[in-house]
Amino acid sequence: MKKILFAALGALLLAGCAKQPATMENQVINNIMTRVSVRQFTGEPITQAQVDTLLRAAMAAPSAVNKQPWAFVVISDKAIIDRIGAELPNTRCQNNAPCAIVLCGDTDKALDGDGHEFWVQDVAAATENLLLAAHSMGLGAVWTGMYPTPRAALVQQMLDLPENIVPLAIVPVGYPAEQPEVKEKYNPELIHYNKW
Ligand SMILES: Cc1cc2nc3c(=O)[nH]c(=O)nc-3n(C[C@H](O)[C@H](O)[C@H](O)COP(=O)(O)O)c2cc1C
Repeated sequence: MKKILFAALGALLLAGCAKQPATMENQVINNIMTRVSVRQFTGEPITQAQVDTLLRAAMAAPSAVNKQPWAFVVISDKAIIDRIGAELPNTRCQNNAPCAIVLCGDTDKALDGDGHEFWVQDVAAATENLLLAAHSMGLGAVWTGMYPTPRAALVQQMLDLPENIVPLAIVPVGYPAEQPEVKEKYNPELIHYNKW
């Protein structure tokens, strides 16, 4: 009986997947295509449940050899957010962000040898997942770059990060106080089939 139930559930799930249109009606595609960087926030706090969902989405990202070489610092203390905004204005934390998430690579968990630098791509994938999750939840966010600029060392110092924890990005997140236009980026001239 259990087996039949599982088979029926599996068939239903597969049927559900097959029915998803490859157009803007597909909610996931729509979410990807309508995400924009938001740099002004209302200041309204976000909940721990929202933060948890953002971090679950980030950690669902692919990573080379599934190393998951990442670590996250959630900043909700207004004094620390203000300090980051003052010392690193590119983070937009000074624009009423109630929360900022620092996405870091853990170089101790990264691959050895030729694949070591894959940690950057792994944490970048986690960052994009977080941005997309935020957008789907009605929140605004922007990727602000730390590593490989000297800003990474400043953040390490400011937040007492161990040497192996390298901040790749800081993402301020909150309710949007602006609604930027979606940028049209699709360019068929950039696509090559089978050879250049
Ligand atoms: C690696 C990286 C670093 C970025 N750094 C910053 C930054 O320091 N400050 C900022 O306001 N936006 C930053 N951005 C956001 C880009 O400016 C933004 O994604 C780009 O202009 C495209 O706009 P869109 O996100 O609305 O599509 C960064 C984006 C990436 C991927």
